Amino acid sequence: MIRIFPSLRFASLLSAAKPFYSSSPARAPPQYASFSEAKSTPASHSPSSNLKTPLFLRTPSHTTPLSEVWKWHDWAKDLASSVENSSINSEDSLDSIILLRELKWLIEDSIVDDPLVILHRKQNEDDGEKNVKLRASLEELYNLWRQRIEKRRPFQYVVGCEHWRDLVLCVEEGVLIPRPETELIVDMVEELVTKDEWFKKGFWADLGTGSGAIAIGVAKVLGSHGRVIATDLSPVAIAVAGHNVQRYGLQGMIELREGSWFEPLKDFEGKLVGLVSNPPYIPSYDIPGLQAEVGRHEPKLALDGGIDGTDSLFHLCHGASRMLKRGGFFVFETNGEKQSKMIVDYMMTNDLKDCFCDLKIVADFAGINRFVTGFRR
Ligand SMILES: C[S@@+](CC[C@H](N)C(=O)[O-])C[C@H]1O[C@@H](n2cnc3c(N)ncnc32)[C@H](O)[C@@H]1O
Repeated sequence: MIRIFPSLRFASLLSAAKPFYSSSPARAPPQYASFSEAKSTPASHSPSSNLKTPLFLRTPSHTTPLSEVWKWHDWAKDLASSVENSSINSEDSLDSIILLRELKWLIEDSIVDDPLVILHRKQNEDDGEKNVKLRASLEELYNLWRQRIEKRRPFQYVVGCEHWRDLVLCVEEGVLIPRPETELIVDMVEELVTKDEWFKKGFWADLGTGSGAIAIGVAKVLGSHGRVIATDLSPVAIAVAGHNVQRYGLQGMIELREGSWFEPLKDFEGKLVGLVSNPPYIPSYDIPGLQAEVGRHEPKLALDGGIDGTDSLFHLCHGASRMLKRGGFFVFETNGEKQSKMIVDYMMTNDLKDCFCDLKIVADFAGINRFVTGFRR
């Protein structure tokens, strides 16, 4: 299955269109990951059994006549097409073309048979009496599509997953939906470790791991020697990340720790070879103006970076100076442009001025100066 898009368009956490590919690792129960080698505290909570199962991983236990599914599909298409007229002149309107694409993906995630039996109704007109197997009841599919359109619930929360790099990550309310531009952090790490093996063998940290996207991406590019400690203040994020880590069988490589930024990493002071983070960086003032899907549904903790959006970033700069080994690498995602420059300026002044070298600002897919990278002196 190839999904081209992101369905979310919003100002600060920018989404540039690019292709991404699905893979479907075996289903596994949610569980925390913990290094056996590291003398470190594993996450302090037990795994959450309340995590939702994404649609594509559910058992197809609903048998429904095709004619009823067609009826739902006609209704869903009509609802998607009607939105544009109802929200004309609004800057934050839904786009019916994107919605129709999402509807196709919803069908792909829900049906066991070929989705074309639903999508190409005319060619299958005589099959209306046949039954199809679904992963959700028709009643739930009606509800999910209503939530998507009427409540502006993000599509990724509706289906319970996001396709990111070569991963399919489970997501749900309480955890940020990973964005396409953040994939570049993993690309940068991959480039670095391909050139210099030193970075493959040491400890990395992903701070504010959310769904675990960066930590999983980094662990995969580090290969069998890789070790990543992923932290988050949000227990929901830690539970979701744990589930994703488990699904990709990376429990031996990624350890999750709940707590604020560097607080759960005291035993790694001066020991990290790499530090990556996509912290909250949206200025508080901009939060009310976010696209409805983001502002109403995604966790504030993941978005709000304080007055000018730099609260967490400045904190990370100081932490990087303490936590990284000499020669250690860091990459931070920012709100872009002015904010990236502020971070570089901050790292070149005051008590941080002799701590880093090779500071760079790197653009994202859309050409926005999005990332700050550098090395510990
Ligand atoms: C922008 S999200 C990034 C999530 C994920 N890394 C990604 O790129 O999709 C920021 C993350 O930082 C976490 N966070 C916010 N404040 C934190 C803190 N004080 N300590 C640790 N994590 C924090 C949030 O819960 C959220 O998961």
